[in-house]
Amino acid sequence: MKTIDVEGARIAFHDVGSGRPVLLLHGFPLTSESFRPQLDALGGRFRLIVPDHRGFGASGPAGVEATEMSRIARDALAILDSLQIRRAVVGGVSMGGYAAMALLREDAGRAAGLLLIDTQATADDEAGKARRAETAKAIEARGVQALVDAMMGKLVAEDCDPAVRAGVEAMIRSCRPEGCIAAVRGMALRQDSQDMLARFAGPSLVVVGAKDAITPPSKAKEMAALLAGSRLVEIPGAGHLANLEQPAAFNAAAEAFLSSIPESALA
Ligand code: MLT
Repeated sequence: MKTIDVEGARIAFHDVGSGRPVLLLHGFPLTSESFRPQLDALGGRFRLIVPDHRGFGASGPAGVEATEMSRIARDALAILDSLQIRRAVVGGVSMGGYAAMALLREDAGRAAGLLLIDTQATADDEAGKARRAETAKAIEARGVQALVDAMMGKLVAEDCDPAVRAGVEAMIRSCRPEGCIAAVRGMALRQDSQDMLARFAGPSLVVVGAKDAITPPSKAKEMAALLAGSRLVEIPGAGHLANLEQPAAFNAAAEAFLSSIPESALA
């Protein structure tokens, strides 16, 4: 992995392949490894830039009370700057999707296209914020075991391939409590991004697992309705991690979308 230092944190990222640049932002409580099926299969056709968010994976500590989605977005823009990439397709899974929408708020001109995967444009309501505070306390008390207990039943579909399920659990166990707590607090602070989607004029693809129990297909339909000319693809058999659970179907949809974006849009 490559690294850069951005405002007090070392950010590690994959930079794999060549072709149209595609920035992929991972979900919670995961790492860039959650895009392994895309790094392996799509790197031959596209340049995949996939960071570990601060506080996760090979990146340094979050170093802040709350890792706001705008912070993750600015870290990602700093990576693009360091690679001298002016415009990229910007994609994200769940929390990574929140960060992708925050990136539009930071500088929508950097996004040549949008790939929103198992995510939602709305902010947490008061009950949701209260649940985040409880989650942060539970991680403080019990470490990432609290996340394994609370999330494994919801992250992947019930009949998910056992090897994929085991990989997701191992990824959660590899996460650091301080990074997770900061990200939980940051997600609670995120803004509603429906206005950003309504304003985004570039090409977009919304993907959702048909069995997503965290951001269900109804949330994906709301986002697709806001985005001018977007496509919505529902992946049969997948839960909240469509790209990991059903990589062949996901990669086919992503590849068709990414190939359809003209090179000129990336200049
Ligand atoms: C994620 O998958 O990134 C999280 O479940 C999103 C969330 O908690 O809102």
